[in-house]
Amino acid sequence: MLKAPAFDPELIKSDFPIFNRKVRGNNRLIYLDSAATSQKPKSVIAAEAKFYELMNGAANRGAHLLAEEASLAYEQARERVAKFINAKSQEVIFTKSATESLNGLAYSLGNPDSKIHLNAGDEIVVSEMEHHANLIPWQQLAKRTGAKLRWIEVDKTGELNLDGIDKLINSKTKVVALTHQSNVLGTIPPIEKLNKIAKANGTLFILDACQSAPHFPIDVQKLDVDAIVFSGHKIFGPTGIGVLWAKEELLEKLEPFIFGGSMIDDVSMDKATWAQLPRKFEAGVPNMAQAVGLAAALDYVDQLGMQNIEAHELSLTEQFLSEVSHLNEVSVVGPTEMKSRGSVVSFTISGIHPHDAGQVLDQYGIAVRTGHHCAWPLMRKLNLVGTVRASFAAYNTKQDIDDLIKGIISVQEYFRVG
Ligand SMILES: Cc1ncc(COP(=O)(O)O)c(C=O)c1O
Repeated sequence: MLKAPAFDPELIKSDFPIFNRKVRGNNRLIYLDSAATSQKPKSVIAAEAKFYELMNGAANRGAHLLAEEASLAYEQARERVAKFINAKSQEVIFTKSATESLNGLAYSLGNPDSKIHLNAGDEIVVSEMEHHANLIPWQQLAKRTGAKLRWIEVDKTGELNLDGIDKLINSKTKVVALTHQSNVLGTIPPIEKLNKIAKANGTLFILDACQSAPHFPIDVQKLDVDAIVFSGHKIFGPTGIGVLWAKEELLEKLEPFIFGGSMIDDVSMDKATWAQLPRKFEAGVPNMAQAVGLAAALDYVDQLGMQNIEAHELSLTEQFLSEVSHLNEVSVVGPTEMKSRGSVVSFTISGIHPHDAGQVLDQYGIAVRTGHHCAWPLMRKLNLVGTVRASFAAYNTKQDIDDLIKGIISVQEYFRVG
């Protein structure tokens, strides 16, 4: 059993106002859907409110005090994110979400004016376990450029099947775009190994860190990939803020993907040149309050300690995997061992549609995600209509897991199976 260090999730829960409410009658909220979006601590809500109450002005525009303070707060938020992932601040681009970050990257890589871009005959490699956000932008890039989209298959155990990987990633491969942790299976792919193969072929390696950045330490220097993306709202931060980090030399080679105010160096009626990084990629008035909220969220994570969060979540995962293994007719979809897996667990209950199960669990105040999890190709590969997914965060307790297990038994009783 992995042993979590002294870490009090009950105390952590009390930092999150939402847990004061009752749901579906007088039930306490058992929130097991943090992989979809996490709850927000008071400090994040307060930081966003403080921005609006005291310093709301348009960052990087205007000569007045509020604009100056807003600019400072926004740039401090960028530095905070850079510190969190061990990057240079000019390499951190704020977007509205990870989805926007991935679309932006794919768009820029399809622009023939970018010093690095894809052409017909080039190849892009993804995997069968990608969230649609890390699949469809690459499908579209392939369509626009004539490049070929290829993928690493998933095996029955929910791991990537690396047979023939040296052929799949080859000198034609211009981009490998992979998840750092599956949002459905919890699988953590062997990124280091795959990145080595990509490097040997001069291939860009793009990591979808949506399900990793909130759960274990991310150091872009150690990872040595070319770009990572994640969303603020999954890491205790606000919605409407995402991160695109890429190596400076890559960002310098890429054309911007949105155009407008604040991202220019010079503009005449028929042409424009771009500002220095990071502003080149941030057209328009940015999501300032949300960036400030994200910075507060990262402070909160550091206060708890990312390693503590990781150990705690893994111990809850291990508890759930162990307890669920004793239930009849319940099957975990994805790795059942703790090796290379994170704190997202999908399961099916024989004879019960995931939505039905989710609805019954909801009656007990248990919030889980049900359905295809924006991963249709994976569902088809595994021959599933969907799964029930429980995902664990710092504020979840052993009691939450026990209640989920009791909830699953009640679902089976309700539908008279199991
Ligand atoms: C692995 C993964 N990638 C990308 C996304 C997209 O994130 P967002 O909807 O915040 O842009 C998600 C969201 O669930 C995800 O889990």
